Amino acid sequence: MAEKVSRPTQAPKERAFLVGVSLRGKPQLLPLEESLAELARLAETAGLEVVGEATQRLDRPYPKTFVGPGKLEEIKALVEETQADVVIFDDELSPRHLRELEAFFGENVRVLDRTALILDIFAQHAHTREGALQVELAQYEYRLPRLTRAWTHLARQTGGGGGRAGRMGGVGLRGPGERQLEVDRRDIRRRMAHLRKELDKVRAHRQRYRARRRKNRLPVVALVGYTNAGKSTLLNRLTNADVYVADQLFATLDPTTRRVELPGGHLALFTDTVGFIQKLPTSLVAAFRATLEEITEADLLLHVIDITHPHASAQAEAVLQTLREIGADHIPILTVLNKIDLLDDPDRAQAALEAFPNAVAISALTGQGIPELLQAVSDKLYASYEPVVVDLPYEQGGLIALFHEMGQVEEVQHHRGGVRIRGRLPGRLVARYAPFMIREEGRTAGTDA
Ligand code: GTP
Repeated sequence: MAEKVSRPTQAPKERAFLVGVSLRGKPQLLPLEESLAELARLAETAGLEVVGEATQRLDRPYPKTFVGPGKLEEIKALVEETQADVVIFDDELSPRHLRELEAFFGENVRVLDRTALILDIFAQHAHTREGALQVELAQYEYRLPRLTRAWTHLARQTGGGGGRAGRMGGVGLRGPGERQLEVDRRDIRRRMAHLRKELDKVRAHRQRYRARRRKNRLPVVALVGYTNAGKSTLLNRLTNADVYVADQLFATLDPTTRRVELPGGHLALFTDTVGFIQKLPTSLVAAFRATLEEITEADLLLHVIDITHPHASAQAEAVLQTLREIGADHIPILTVLNKIDLLDDPDRAQAALEAFPNAVAISALTGQGIPELLQAVSDKLYASYEPVVVDLPYEQGGLIALFHEMGQVEEVQHHRGGVRIRGRLPGRLVARYAPFMIREEGRTAGTDA
């Protein structure tokens, strides 16, 4: 059957030439070559074909052209030789760099940087309305100070030269691209104001939804990790397993949030998040702050690490750095070493596991280690919870509400003066309930009425 489906003929891929620079004295998470290899994977994800690369070690970027004049000539020759359509720099280019470089490479070669590339990929992958709005806004923010050649159509309309009509829709021009080419800066600002308003609306809606979710009191476990670590695979693995509980209560949930039953019968919400990457500009992180807020409100983070990656530690550090930037470093983290099915050399496996003590090793692909992971999640979530029985007078409305919000209520009995609650409370809250604590007799039976 599959053979009968006729595939649309693919447009020839744009050809990309990559440029990486390592700055002496500026510590980088990944070595130059590795960062460039990552840029190549980003370019491929964006639908480009990588045809070559050049690197340079510098004390600091040249103020005009980022790389030095000699290197630039060398790159130009290579770009011509490889017939590249796009030159992509691994670091964020300032508006001036971009202008100078565009002037240097001329009409037929576009210049992009890592940020523009990541934005482009995000634009392709933004499926929710909020995601799409955020990406579009971030793209405008990035481009507004850089309105130059990428805006050829604008230039043409205002009397500039033509010649690049076939380039629309390429990398860096996707998303708002077509529209962008017809408007001027003022219109962009107007569009940005509109986007911000729309985002506010969507966020207000999400806040309401989140408040409702909090009422359900299900703990939230957010999957975080470097791009390609295997978060989505893990989420699928968890939800396709027998423990999956149909997701009917949350019809409006983002499709990447799922309910999962933990050992002992507790339910938790597991939510996938955008993959992290090194050199993610802070401005971009800020643009996605709202989405990332989901992370900051989680009860537990699962930090998924591709343990087979040669730079697993540096990737892990990049993730922790981003977590610090978005203020999520106070949330307990359970480290998950993924893809252990690929570790056939026992020595390497041992070394990898030693690098991350207290981590749980799994294969999201084969399911190896998943029961242990769920047990560890359950332990982490409930480790500090203590079983209590409290008798709270109705005047203590605040404490009653807090128990419902932060604790796990197992049983509630109303009586004339107040309410008796049996359940579990996070350890840090137990002291506040001490004056209302009931002795253990009622608990020992377990099924006491
Ligand atoms: P982003 O969406 O980029 O953040 O990636 P992700 O973390 O969601 O990773 P994803 O689940 O898309 O997996 C990335 C790749 O790794 C895919 O090709 C998966 O098939 C592969 N992968 C994930 N888990 C495993 C695993 O346990 N073993 C093996 N061998 N491959 C895995």
